Amino acid sequence: MPTSKQLDAKYYMPAFGRDMEIVRGRDCHVWDSTGKKYLDLVAGIAVCSTGHCHPAVTAAICKQAQTLIHCSNLYYVPGQAELAAKLSKASGLGKVFFGNSGAEANDAAMKLAIRATGRHEFVSFEHDFHGRTVGSLACTHKPAIRVPFEPLGIPCKFGPYGDIEALKDLVTKKTAAVMFEPIQGETGVIIPPDDFLPGIRDICDDTGALMICDEVQTGMGRTGKWFAFQHSAVQPDIISLAKGVASGIPMGAIIAREGLEFTRGEHGSTFAGGPVACAAGNATFDVLKSVVPKVAAKGERFRKGLAHLNPRVRGLMVGFTAGEKSPAIAEYCREHGVLINVAGGENIRIVPPLVINNREIDHAIAIINEAAESV
Ligand SMILES: Cc1ncc(COP(=O)(O)O)c(C=O)c1O
Repeated sequence: MPTSKQLDAKYYMPAFGRDMEIVRGRDCHVWDSTGKKYLDLVAGIAVCSTGHCHPAVTAAICKQAQTLIHCSNLYYVPGQAELAAKLSKASGLGKVFFGNSGAEANDAAMKLAIRATGRHEFVSFEHDFHGRTVGSLACTHKPAIRVPFEPLGIPCKFGPYGDIEALKDLVTKKTAAVMFEPIQGETGVIIPPDDFLPGIRDICDDTGALMICDEVQTGMGRTGKWFAFQHSAVQPDIISLAKGVASGIPMGAIIAREGLEFTRGEHGSTFAGGPVACAAGNATFDVLKSVVPKVAAKGERFRKGLAHLNPRVRGLMVGFTAGEKSPAIAEYCREHGVLINVAGGENIRIVPPLVINNREIDHAIAIINEAAESV
């Protein structure tokens, strides 16, 4: 009987670098196929915000799966409008449209911006990551993953992240939208200066471009508020979400300001906002209501415990630069039962389930400090 690893080598396209098989998860822990237990500070890359298999989320998924798994958007979908209402109210924005992933949500945001402005050009930032569909990839900076697929048909200019002066020269009356991460996640938790979001807002207001805030990684309480833009005083025109929305059931969404919406036939998707995803999303939201207010303090505990590594912290998005030692630090932690990951080549990223407790945080801090000292 071939192992999964052997079958993967033979039958699965080798687009991922991986060597570990995770077979079970519970709360903040996962187990590999040898039975080894890990404290999981990766959380499926900032996805499993309620922890693994939270009983309320699992029960909601199971109940919905026994009632109706799929019906299509030709009909009202159970739980869809309820989840839209929760997300709309939490964001203070207007209407919601669901998708199946972060990249798809960003594509929807881009389509809405094109439709609303009649313009076709975009501006994004160096080291921003927005996804790998043709649209979102056009606004993803990393040349190694974008350039081999060009031309993508969507012009996008990239400015230095956080630099409002430089942005002024890039945004014109031809720009449909400025798309940005409020904190860069895939690059290793890079936090921009406080004037970044207000500066983008002003430039967009001056030029008629829309402001698309990619909250795929930062949204759903990750930074200690429902959405990272809420740390600033401004509102984007559109935000995109995915990752933490449904605790690991694929789901993306956009939320646009009042009056900005697709009209009939302008956008659609067979699976998006399906009954099981919405059941997971509703249960996730309800669990997170009491968790989000505690996230900032948990982040501060990480900041204190990792102080000598100069961590960058916003809620439970924690990163520090470790240079070429990064892979060895991650490997040491893995050997000692703690999963963290390397982001942007030289940074360690820590994005645990938002339900992580103080004892688990202290254990993680001890192992990470040990790793940083010993590699
Ligand atoms: C900020 C951001 N935007 C978009 C994406 C793409 O999301 P997905 O992988 O669900 O398509 C990611 C994924 O890491 C992300 O971090």
